Amino acid sequence: MLRVEFLKYMAALAAMWKISPVVARQIVEAEISRQDFGKDFSWGVATSAYQVEGAWNLDGKGESIWDRYTQKQGNIKDSSDGKVASDFYHRYKSDLGLLKSLNLKNFRFSFSWPRLLPDGTGKVNGQGIGFYDRMIDTCLNLGIEPWAMLYHWDLPQKLEDKDGWTNRDIVGWFSEYADLCSRKFGDRIKHWMVLNEPGSYTTLGYLSGIHAPSRIGIGNYLSSVHHTCLCQAEGGRILRENVPNGHIGTTFSCSYIEPEKETSLYQSAAKRLDVVFNRLFIEPSLGMGYPFEDLPFLEKMAPYIQNGDMEKLKYEFDFIGIQNYFRVIAKPFPIPYLWASRVKPETDAEMTEMGWEVHPDGMYKIIKQFAKYPIKEIIVTENGAAFPDQIVNGRIHDLQRINFYKRYLQNTLRAKREGVNITGYFAWTFIDNFEWVEGFHPRFGLVHNDFKTQERIVKDSGYWFRDFLK
Ligand code: BGC
Repeated sequence: MLRVEFLKYMAALAAMWKISPVVARQIVEAEISRQDFGKDFSWGVATSAYQVEGAWNLDGKGESIWDRYTQKQGNIKDSSDGKVASDFYHRYKSDLGLLKSLNLKNFRFSFSWPRLLPDGTGKVNGQGIGFYDRMIDTCLNLGIEPWAMLYHWDLPQKLEDKDGWTNRDIVGWFSEYADLCSRKFGDRIKHWMVLNEPGSYTTLGYLSGIHAPSRIGIGNYLSSVHHTCLCQAEGGRILRENVPNGHIGTTFSCSYIEPEKETSLYQSAAKRLDVVFNRLFIEPSLGMGYPFEDLPFLEKMAPYIQNGDMEKLKYEFDFIGIQNYFRVIAKPFPIPYLWASRVKPETDAEMTEMGWEVHPDGMYKIIKQFAKYPIKEIIVTENGAAFPDQIVNGRIHDLQRINFYKRYLQNTLRAKREGVNITGYFAWTFIDNFEWVEGFHPRFGLVHNDFKTQERIVKDSGYWFRDFLK
């Protein structure tokens, strides 16, 4: 980047952060080093099957709820879908080679349930197994450690036809799937995660209906929450049984919540949002039950809870994956059941293309909040940002993304230095991909993808990681 451009950029940042350009520059230039995090710290990137693989109907793969949902006009902003996505299914070898060249030694991916079990249960798709076998072996040959996620939102459509997460039978379906994955790949994969952000897919998919499978209503939401919590623990137990020396975790989306004003009305609104954003899925796994007292409408979950369930919800994970992007400011608001809502960030706040406020301090605070739970190990399993990327002479100078990472990493380090056992960090994401209902527009990758030609260009943020991790 030219010096003039750099100075202009500093001035813009300073205005956004409401600080002087000199201080902005100090922040940007403040160096953190890999050594600060310790030599055993795991550095990597995270991806998910539907967002990158493509090959939606090849080699015996079954239909997923996202294959179905994307086909309905109006569901996806740019009317795109994940039929081809980043074509990782065909390009995994060169992509993993590229990953290695950026010194990123840990690769988080998810299995596509309908690629392995096209009907959700029963007949196993050998070609699906073959794909993951080849992909995992490529990782190992390159010296890249694979981290497997069982479920990143692409439920087999055949199971949604039987009511998906709202049907208690999903505990059996999911157990069969978890058993299959861990038996087939447990000889080579040490690191496992059960669910990606249960808070996101239950709320967006079964309450507001703005994600697949587009169901709405409180009953759908609460039953999907309870069945998810049962699967979360059961998944952990199955992984442990099949991979006794495995490193087993699960992940949560989480955001530090602040009341807009320090009055008791605002504070209790913040408390209610905290339940939904941060507490609902982790507390039952820790044997704390559901946080009914702080959000009484959750008691409507009672009809779905059977005798002995509270015991079944418990599972002691080796690590908890936290995925943080923004903070949340809360205010009281007449939304039924919740009586709270989010306040829009100030107009001059630094925002990502997702409309999320950049607030690195929130990363520190949410890590500290989770560290109060009796958990053994925390890993940041996702963190990243979408900003407008421009190709200039074949390069992408995404300084804003580099600064995002630096500041969120500084805040991760701050928590680590205060004694929190944080053992890894995964950037979201490796390569530009299909960003769910947003389509192809917000780009989160360290590597740019041209979705027409599938040509990859490493962004400056990718090179920043390469040099940082050297
Ligand atoms: C999800 C990803 C998603 C990212 C950015 C996370 O909530 O796990 O699938 O692409 O956020 O929106």
